[in-house]
Amino acid sequence: MMFRSRTTRCLLLGLAVIVPASLLAVYGEPPADEWKAPARAAKKKNPVAVDDASIAAGKGLYAQECLSCHGTAGKGDGSAAKDLEKNPGDLSKATMWDQTDGALFWKITDGRKPMPSFEKKFSEEQRWQVINYIRTLAPKPADKPADKPADK
Ligand code: HEC
Repeated sequence: MMFRSRTTRCLLLGLAVIVPASLLAVYGEPPADEWKAPARAAKKKNPVAVDDASIAAGKGLYAQECLSCHGTAGKGDGSAAKDLEKNPGDLSKATMWDQTDGALFWKITDGRKPMPSFEKKFSEEQRWQVINYIRTLAPKPADKPADKPADK
């Protein structure tokens, strides 16, 4: 290959160094893929009381719309899970309590592929009910109240 000038050669050489370096800077950052609710959304309070009625309603909704992916106990092992491009994670892990109800509400409302959005499918009340139910799947650490002021 022939390059018109020394300048062009230098420029190309420079690009050959800079482009891969900047790609590394972008993709080398650890959890670029972490799904985190915005702080404002995480502050939203759950207006639906945690009681037998809301948990029972949430359980019914979960069985209809969530169980096929998330599994009976929330382990991410529902019948449809194996065909997903991404694992649904584990709703029964204690670290679920690191997220506020508001953060979960935001995630369930928006979804993130392959998880669908429930903004249209569920009313707000139904989304809170399903949160009250999935909270029963994870052991609650003694030092973690359900609604901390902000998501960590
Ligand atoms: C089509 C399969 C599918 C269905 C149906 C589904 N989910 Fe998910 N869900 C996922 C996947 C996959 C993820 C992980 C998404 C990611 O990390 O990008 C997820 C993530 C979540 C998370 C976030 C977990 C975390 O660790 O932060 C919550 C909460 C959740 N789902 C609740 C629900 C609820 C409640 C329903 C029913 C109303 C539901 N999902 C229905 C597949 C599904």
